[in-house]
Amino acid sequence: MKIKVIRILLMLCAASVGLSGVSQDWYGNERNGSKTQVTRIERQKLLEDVRQLARIIESTHPDPCSLRGGKTKKSFSVQSRRDQRDQPEKLMDFAGVKSGMLIGEAGAGRGYLTFFLSRRVGEKGMIYANDIDKQALKDLVHRCEKEAVKNIEVVLGKVADPNFPVTNLDMVVMLYAFHDFTDKEAWLKNVKKYMKQDASLVIFDRQDAHTGMSKELVMRVGKRAGFKLVQYTSLHSGLWAYILKKEW
Ligand SMILES: C[S@@+](CC[C@H](N)C(=O)[O-])C[C@H]1O[C@@H](n2cnc3c(N)ncnc32)[C@H](O)[C@@H]1O
Repeated sequence: MKIKVIRILLMLCAASVGLSGVSQDWYGNERNGSKTQVTRIERQKLLEDVRQLARIIESTHPDPCSLRGGKTKKSFSVQSRRDQRDQPEKLMDFAGVKSGMLIGEAGAGRGYLTFFLSRRVGEKGMIYANDIDKQALKDLVHRCEKEAVKNIEVVLGKVADPNFPVTNLDMVVMLYAFHDFTDKEAWLKNVKKYMKQDASLVIFDRQDAHTGMSKELVMRVGKRAGFKLVQYTSLHSGLWAYILKKEW
């Protein structure tokens, strides 16, 4: 709000010194024939002061849209709050996401993590973004088109089968999703066939009353489906990481 007021003051200041040689009304419309009384030198000095002030304002209050490509201040702040909370780069470091990998993301939703994964694996890699929610996948496709992203393919899954289109995934990753899966054991049995023998299944999720997630649950359903839990770690913001590998 303060910045808006300063900008308006600057506009008025510019108008009052007759920047275009003619004065302007409140709405910026030119009024012919009413030249101001300042000399050319005074006008130039004032103009330089106005420009200097504008530069200071722009450098201390950058336009959020230019930083993130978002449309509004709101989308910028919502996005950065989630980044601060989830720290996707840290999650990918922890999971071992590298350039050139083929990754299946299950329960990708509208693609929050997907686009970070896409940037990390680069043009030689590929992200297969799975969900059972058609609308979420539509939104994801829309963003891919808007941002001309070429290494994300969306995959409409079934409740118990992700339907990934390849059988050589280096990793399957999930963020805030596994707790939502209603038939965990059947899904785990089916996801195996899309993964390389030494591929990791990385689950990032919360452990609370809402998710019902726990080490015991993941170990139990994992074992029944032929996975072993090889790492179980508490991360930031209440997130836990479970890394599973194929046992058979
Ligand atoms: C809480 S959202 C998380 C979305 C996204 N990962 C994120 O962090 O923004 C959980 C997602 O899991 C999806 N989901 C639930 N059951 C699923 C299943 N069996 N297979 C694939 N996706 C599923 C939901 O449709 C939803 O998009």
